[in-house]
Amino acid sequence: MRSLLITNIGELVTADPAWGEGSLGIRRNAALVIDDRRVEWIGRAADAPAADARVDAGGAAVLPGFVDSHAHLVFAGDRAAEFAARMAGQPYTGGGIRTTVGATRAACDEQLRTNVARLRGEALRQGTTTMEIKSGYGLNVTDEARSLRIAREFTTETTFLGAHVVPAEYADRPDDYVGLVCGPMLTAARSAGARWIDVFCERGAFDADHSRAILTVGADAGMGVRVHANQLTEGPGVRLAVELNAASADHCTHLSRADIDALAGSATVATLLPGAEFSTRSPYPPARALLDAGATVALATDCNPGSSFTTSMPFCIALAVREMAMTPAEAVLAATRGGAAALRRGDIGRLTVGARGDLLMLDAPSHLHLAYRPGVPLTTTVVLNGELV
Ligand code: NIG
Ligand code: FE
Repeated sequence: MRSLLITNIGELVTADPAWGEGSLGIRRNAALVIDDRRVEWIGRAADAPAADARVDAGGAAVLPGFVDSHAHLVFAGDRAAEFAARMAGQPYTGGGIRTTVGATRAACDEQLRTNVARLRGEALRQGTTTMEIKSGYGLNVTDEARSLRIAREFTTETTFLGAHVVPAEYADRPDDYVGLVCGPMLTAARSAGARWIDVFCERGAFDADHSRAILTVGADAGMGVRVHANQLTEGPGVRLAVELNAASADHCTHLSRADIDALAGSATVATLLPGAEFSTRSPYPPARALLDAGATVALATDCNPGSSFTTSMPFCIALAVREMAMTPAEAVLAATRGGAAALRRGDIGRLTVGARGDLLMLDAPSHLHLAYRPGVPLTTTVVLNGELV
């Protein structure tokens, strides 16, 4: 592997306060060397060791690659008409998930793979170097397993979401469906290499008892736990996530004071998905209250064809700053280190010596421009696992 030296970095965001100024650990006029897929050296250009290749950042900002810790990329079809109806006043209920299940089951592997590749490529061009990918539109043993196998072609961070909703054929016997998820479907998900298990704990999807049963079986089988929690109502999802020491409680849109305190006192990350509130015209999650209470916050896209059809982490950062009262620094941290924490990873989401060589360069002098220039494709260069993309 060729080593890479990046010089003339106007603002290097290390995302580690031990490595520079402020919460983002910013270093100015910096240089950085990546060797053998890791950050090997950070310092002033004049002191830089020799490297095989050299990139002049021209005074631009360099950040850790974004960590998108919540995405549903394995699906077929789109639901643009459902989006249009919502913008005309219809509420979002999650009922459209079954539409996507029908289209996904009917698609061949190659169609699903092509769709994931297209979306993963879109995200990468915007600076996302790690992306979690969930199943959840198969909802039978065969289609959940193939969704996870296809997801595994793109990431090691794959999540079994057989408990997304109860599929139509089990509508009048949800207990039987939970039995299927906990038994043969989970076995197939493990064989397909799923690292995580997730449940949509919500009215109309899975209640606390069913969610606990499924997540516990998954955890006993060695999977890490994450929960779709408190998206549509102030339900039991967040408390369940904390009870089970989940890596992440995702959405967190409707939280009680007790939910906020529980998250703040736990190792469970609050993963906020403002693309979903944007695309369902819903109130945004209480990011300020979570941060002020001391909770660890992550930002992710929730990319899916129903509630949030975006792959853009910069868009989510802009929403978090404009709509959720997060500072630009908090939002960037949540999109990098926060996402890494939500995946219980210490090797990504930061640019410090020893971290994975994942970074992005902006056509801008500062991370502030990510929120200051919304909708502008600012990412010019991406390095993924030590290699220029
Ligand atoms: O995270 N809430 C559940 N799952 C997705 C939405 C899925 C869909 O509408 O297709 C979410 O928002
Ligand atoms: Fe989701």
